[in-house]
Amino acid sequence: MQIQFSEAAPDKNMLVAHVVNQGTMPEGLEPALADGASAARFKGRPGQVFEGFAIRDERLARIALAGAGEADASGRGANLEKAGAALAGKFLRSGVKSMAIDLSGADLSADEAARVLLGLRLRSWAHDVYRTKLAEEKKVTLDSVTVIAAPEGTQDAWAVQDAVATGVEFTRTLVAEPANIVYPISFVERCQKAFEGTGAELTVLDEDEMAKLGMGALLGVGQGSRQPSRLLAIRWNGGKEGEKPTVFVGKGVTFDTGGISIKPAGGMEDMKWDMGGAGAVAGAMLALVGRKAKANVVGVVGLVENMPDGNAQRPGDVVTSMSGQTIEVINTDAEGRLVLCDALHWAQEQYEPARIVDFATLTGAIIISLGNEHGGLFANDDALADDLLAAGKSSGDAMWRMPIGPAYDKLIDSPIADIKNVGPRGGGSITAAQFLGRFIKKGTAWAHCDIAGVVWADKPGATWDKGATGFGVRLIDQFVADTLEG
Ligand code: BES
Ligand code: MN
Ligand code: ZN
Repeated sequence: MQIQFSEAAPDKNMLVAHVVNQGTMPEGLEPALADGASAARFKGRPGQVFEGFAIRDERLARIALAGAGEADASGRGANLEKAGAALAGKFLRSGVKSMAIDLSGADLSADEAARVLLGLRLRSWAHDVYRTKLAEEKKVTLDSVTVIAAPEGTQDAWAVQDAVATGVEFTRTLVAEPANIVYPISFVERCQKAFEGTGAELTVLDEDEMAKLGMGALLGVGQGSRQPSRLLAIRWNGGKEGEKPTVFVGKGVTFDTGGISIKPAGGMEDMKWDMGGAGAVAGAMLALVGRKAKANVVGVVGLVENMPDGNAQRPGDVVTSMSGQTIEVINTDAEGRLVLCDALHWAQEQYEPARIVDFATLTGAIIISLGNEHGGLFANDDALADDLLAAGKSSGDAMWRMPIGPAYDKLIDSPIADIKNVGPRGGGSITAAQFLGRFIKKGTAWAHCDIAGVVWADKPGATWDKGATGFGVRLIDQFVADTLEG
């Protein structure tokens, strides 16, 4: 999607869209069009669209109105995104190739105008690469948007959101790709390509290096797969020299069969997106690097494939993590925490982070708790939790805080090792978080985001089509902007 800015009036035959506040109409709109809009019950509610025609200069003009809700509504930014997204949703596959958005009279700030464009761009993303027989009329056609009469400063505001959108798109692609295409090594290669020339520093550990470091938990998960495991770190030093970094850690299980504790066949294909945490961290880093964030941040992702074969780990196996803690593997399907515990430990040793936040499609139980509307947030630090909740609210990647504590923690004591990798049936997301908490050093602020319910959508949402949502990228970006740069 090409987005450009122009002062000139749009071409006469171009579709022209206006962003309209609730209960208003663009100045100078033909009365017949306004009548048509009201007959179609267009009220300017967030995400409503109306399309109509008028005769202008003896030619047929095609006009679209996109509703943005009340001018002073709370959540105005999200409503403006909905206006942009609604235009994309309506015209993306409509045959229209280019559209003008005329912002004259819309009375938006530069930041608000950029939010319209962000919504439009995010809703335009589609992953059709494997659909070789897609009917002509179902193909994406809209590829160019010209913004007319943008408020001063919109281009700068858009440059920031453009980077965020690029990060979200990168994540969505990683998440949407099947597991025969995105596996640990190819995940790393895609990152190496995406970050080339950006100034970010990439570190890759292979299995030998991880074995030397003692990452028995992560390696145990990958040992039943033909695909070698990897650990990838992406570092961006945009902040003050010497300031301790904030580290984001992602679960990157490129496919989760469950291992020997194998999952049922129905729906197992969903487990291609069990690397959604790693995808979010990689995409967020791309966004931060792309907008040259003034912060020291590192993204660390543990990449493995969880498969059952003759070399796979068995239920009951005891593995030794890099931290030295031994783990009884009761269920090989509780593999995400095994990957994360070594990634978290390594990240703390390597970077001495000021705070550490992990993202993982960790438990089905979080979907039972929160459905698909919120990610679950667990934290040992209230200030960090509050900052993440606030960033979630303003970015749209909504999180809901869940409890942790000693009473839950003792549920994962093992009779044979230091810890076991599953607790009882109840509180499955909480005991998973407790497991991770045992690998956090005393005094380190830590939060864990269980995003199993939100990285994939079965139906279109405000700024995404069905499929990969890119959840987490905007949350991390907003958190960095408000907490580390603000
Ligand atoms: N990747 C799954 C969690 C998951 C389930 C994500 C459904 C998205 C949708 C994770 O590795 C897993 O299998 N967790 C088990 C844990 C159990 C064995 C304690 C689960 O949630 O059932
Ligand atoms: Mn699993
Ligand atoms: Zn998993």
